Amino acid sequence: MHDFHYLNHELYCEDVKVSDIVKKTGTPAYIYSYKTIVEHIQKIQKAFASVKPLVCFAMKANSNLAVIKAAVKAGAGLDIVSVGELFRAKQADCDPQKIVFAGVGKTAEEIAEAIHYGILLFNVESGPELESINAVAAKLKKKVNVSLRVNPGVDPHTHHHIATGKAESKFGIDLETAKELFRNRKKLSFLNFCAIHVHIGSQITIGEPFVEAFQKVLAFVSELEKMGARIKYLNLGGGLGVIYDNENPQTADQFAKKILPLFKGKKFQLIFEPGRFIVGNAGILVTEVIYIKKTNVKNFAIIDAAMNDLIRPSLYGAFHGVWPLSEKDKARKLVYDVVGPICESGDVLAKDRHIQELGAGDQVALMTAGAYGFVMSSNYNSRPRICEVMVKGKKFAVIRKRETLQSLIAGESIPSFV
Ligand code: LLP
Repeated sequence: MHDFHYLNHELYCEDVKVSDIVKKTGTPAYIYSYKTIVEHIQKIQKAFASVKPLVCFAMKANSNLAVIKAAVKAGAGLDIVSVGELFRAKQADCDPQKIVFAGVGKTAEEIAEAIHYGILLFNVESGPELESINAVAAKLKKKVNVSLRVNPGVDPHTHHHIATGKAESKFGIDLETAKELFRNRKKLSFLNFCAIHVHIGSQITIGEPFVEAFQKVLAFVSELEKMGARIKYLNLGGGLGVIYDNENPQTADQFAKKILPLFKGKKFQLIFEPGRFIVGNAGILVTEVIYIKKTNVKNFAIIDAAMNDLIRPSLYGAFHGVWPLSEKDKARKLVYDVVGPICESGDVLAKDRHIQELGAGDQVALMTAGAYGFVMSSNYNSRPRICEVMVKGKKFAVIRKRETLQSLIAGESIPSFV
């Protein structure tokens, strides 16, 4: 579900014609729908209303201040993975008691910052990390909540780059080791072992891997409870898939129907950390055709966006739909490779697509680009990062300016010995 649609053959985001936005901002530009972000959060909140879950938006998917503020205003908390994300979360006035901190490599400095801010939970990924958090907490004389991120060894049936719950993954702690860490908790007197965390991967379209993982987690929690644990929070991670092409992912309601029975009669506070589900379909990347290049075997539409702006197709072979901003009446369709100007053969944003005949100056949108789009962009080939825009109803605003040439070299200097 999203709020991009055609009206009189023109692409709209909510009530704004997309071509009117890029007339002001230029291309390329990321454009996000406020309404879609909020509705997706509400879908999860409603589907799980009976257990009042804490929905922590995984801000790694899209950490623009306006986006996370929209999530916070909709009642979400935030799942953070760095001191940089914590800094952003503070700018958005996120209630610290709605922040969970994940990641395999938290530094002592990051841990201290998060303790100062008073976050709800650290999702811990190893024994050494537990010790590090305990040491920092002891120094600050604060007791902190920790959640052991367990690795249930479940295959999430998704792209191997984004599967995290299998046994050979760097994420999480295997169940035996987790038990051992819990058994030795007395040495870690500044830690409150009150939660278990599991996240098995991303873009998971079916319920079964979740059910399998959560059943394992519940069995594990009962074992811990026999050892004296008081588990209050179950953080069930993110991973809900969205439609990029012809997937048929479970809805929030279908997901809840599968999951809720597992937790019936149990008093855990459930936490979810969806990222893609909230922002994936809430964003597009609008770009303009610079040239059409025809060879004996291919039609290339060379656009002004590139792999540095949206790396998912190059990195994962990901599919993003290509929608023209203006649908031409009776235009014939041709097969295009939509490519960027970067000097890499992998700079392909869409391959072998049937699209209405394009010419230089035509504008197209790369769809479902709201998650892991801008946040994974770079300055490769010295390309300034592009602007981001948010639409709400009839209004729109630039929420991140396009970088300038000057900003490309900000912070650089030529030392005297050069
Ligand atoms: N929680 C944890 C601990 C995570 O590692 C992630 C994502 C999430 C939650 C949110 O997952 P989501 O609901 O968005 O699936 N760059 C890749 C995706 C990487 C996901 C990393 N972790 C992509 O573009 O597909």
